[in-house]
Amino acid sequence: MRVSRPPISFFVLFMLSAVFPHHLSLGGDPITCSGIVPTKPRSGMLSISDFGGVGDGTTLNTNAFNSAIDRIRNGNSSSEGTLLYVPRGVYLTESFNLTSHMTLYLAEGAVIKAVQDTEKWPLVDPLPSYGRGRERPGRRYISFIHGDGLSDVVITGRNGTIDGSGEPWWNMWRHGTLKFTRPGLIEFKNSSNIIVSHVVLQNSPFWTLHPVYCSDVVVHHVTILAPTDSPNTDGIDADSSSNVCIEDSYISTGDDLVAVKSGWDEYGIAYNRPSCDITIRRITGSSPFAGIAIGSETSGGIHNVTVENITLYSSGIGIHIKTNIGRGGSIQGITISGVHLEKVRTGIKISGDTGDHPDDHFNTSALPVVSGITIKNVWGIKVERAGTFQGLKDSPFTSLCLSNVTLTGTKSSPVWKCSDIVGAAVKVDPTACPELSSTAQQGGFCENQS
Ligand SMILES: *[C@@H]1O[C@H](CO)[C@@H](O)[C@H](O)[C@H]1NC(C)=O
Ligand SMILES: *[C@@H]1O[C@H](CO)[C@@H](O)[C@H](O)[C@H]1NC(C)=O
Ligand SMILES: *[C@@H]1O[C@H](CO)[C@@H](O)[C@H](O)[C@H]1NC(C)=O
Ligand SMILES: *[C@@H]1O[C@H](CO)[C@@H](O)[C@H](O)[C@H]1NC(C)=O
Ligand SMILES: *[C@@H]1O[C@H](CO)[C@@H](O)[C@H](O)[C@H]1NC(C)=O
Ligand SMILES: *[C@@H]1O[C@H](CO)[C@@H](O)[C@H](O)[C@H]1NC(C)=O
Ligand SMILES: *[C@@H]1O[C@H](CO)[C@@H](O)[C@H](O)[C@H]1NC(C)=O
Ligand SMILES: *[C@@H]1O[C@H](CO)[C@@H](O)[C@H](O)[C@H]1NC(C)=O
Repeated sequence: MRVSRPPISFFVLFMLSAVFPHHLSLGGDPITCSGIVPTKPRSGMLSISDFGGVGDGTTLNTNAFNSAIDRIRNGNSSSEGTLLYVPRGVYLTESFNLTSHMTLYLAEGAVIKAVQDTEKWPLVDPLPSYGRGRERPGRRYISFIHGDGLSDVVITGRNGTIDGSGEPWWNMWRHGTLKFTRPGLIEFKNSSNIIVSHVVLQNSPFWTLHPVYCSDVVVHHVTILAPTDSPNTDGIDADSSSNVCIEDSYISTGDDLVAVKSGWDEYGIAYNRPSCDITIRRITGSSPFAGIAIGSETSGGIHNVTVENITLYSSGIGIHIKTNIGRGGSIQGITISGVHLEKVRTGIKISGDTGDHPDDHFNTSALPVVSGITIKNVWGIKVERAGTFQGLKDSPFTSLCLSNVTLTGTKSSPVWKCSDIVGAAVKVDPTACPELSSTAQQGGFCENQS
């Protein structure tokens, strides 16, 4: 088959971007995720147009995507991988699977759009760490774009769009007519060396970008959009995954913007796969729920999470660490700094008992251990409640540190509410609750933090 080539300007851009990475760190530039996943120019290139792809917004392109990706899957394994070019236009398609050693490249003005056919949508097995679909028992609908057991996959381009056409799914949720758990927009499962950058992800039926059981995942310069009232449209969910770096993105959806998870209750405890070594920085946006969330699915454990420079406006909660009785697991080594809040209901929330279980078989003795959480350099205005910190009576949350936190309300000063927690507070205004007020008994661990 003759393979028609993308425009010359594209090649120039592509070659330049290979030589000069987007995040070449010159003196003074902020630290970035670059280098975590090795990148190399692809040796092969295909265009979706050569597989019958038509971007007219009505032609169904499922076969085009499947045959192009089959070609890459069965192609030259000794090569450096293949780039699949999607030109300007609206490419309607059913869900499809990616393969290893490929780049899905969306040109400027390219849109890959999900058909609204909820009846024929394929199902996959539940994730073992969830034991069932997240919102309905049994199997779950496959994500719109799916990757299982892959390595070396890039989704990028010139800010083209992947659109999940979520509306009919949101309506099924609203009307209680969902048979199975809604599909995510993009899910990578058991995969490594993944980069998602310079794309717009919008109107996901459910969670938008979900790396689960993955390692070495980089997400940067993405824009994630969904209506404020769209149910469960989380932006990015790093789930039982390690070495994940998320930065420089704008996210505005109907649920948590970035969440770190690791399965729930007896299923997550048995699967025992933590999320660790996670970096989240320079995220801006707005959420009716939380800007940055840890949990509430935390059964595999969540360790070593660094969050820096987050700007949130018109949101429910700035930072939310949430877990539950029956979850087990531990949340440890979380450092959050540089949080700017404007017009949020609650600045910081830590909740030990959020509710929500897969079934009634959870072990009521499996209490989460939460310890070593530092939250510093937080500044907020128009904050209704400063924070609510609620540990568990039989498993108090320890070594919490609040440092250099200034929150102001609209009329009165916002208040803190605490129970079953132990920690310290340094330079916190308004004055933190007594549980956090004593630095002496904490060995001064918090004083060195600001
Ligand atoms: C596979 O790709 C490599 C690098 O592009 C090339 O040198 C080689 O000839 C290709 N082999 C086949 C069988 O196509
Ligand atoms: C896509 O992958 C899923 C899970 O890995 C598999 O069940 C499904 O059959 C694949 N779909 C196609 C069209 O190959
Ligand atoms: C994960 O993917 C690898 C291939 O990358 C495969 O060998 C392995 O069986 C997969 N593991 C699971 C649990 O699916
Ligand atoms: C794509 O969007 C990012 C913001 O997410 C922006 O920094 C970048 O300049 C845009 N690139 C192009 C080619 O428009
Ligand atoms: C924490 O994670 C970062 C990457 O996010 C890693 O560089 C660092 O080594 C990890 N620290 C520990 C103590 O595991
Ligand atoms: C966070 O913001 C501060 C102040 O704008 C800046 O000095 C610092 O380099 C930023 N850090 C990161 C990791 O972006
Ligand atoms: C319930 O959890 C407790 C505390 O982790 C553990 O000791 C016990 O073995 C668990 N019981 C079951 C049935 O798993
Ligand atoms: C305190 O936090 C503010 C707001 O994030 C920041 O601008 C300032 O540099 C911090 N002060 C110190 C001493 O770190």
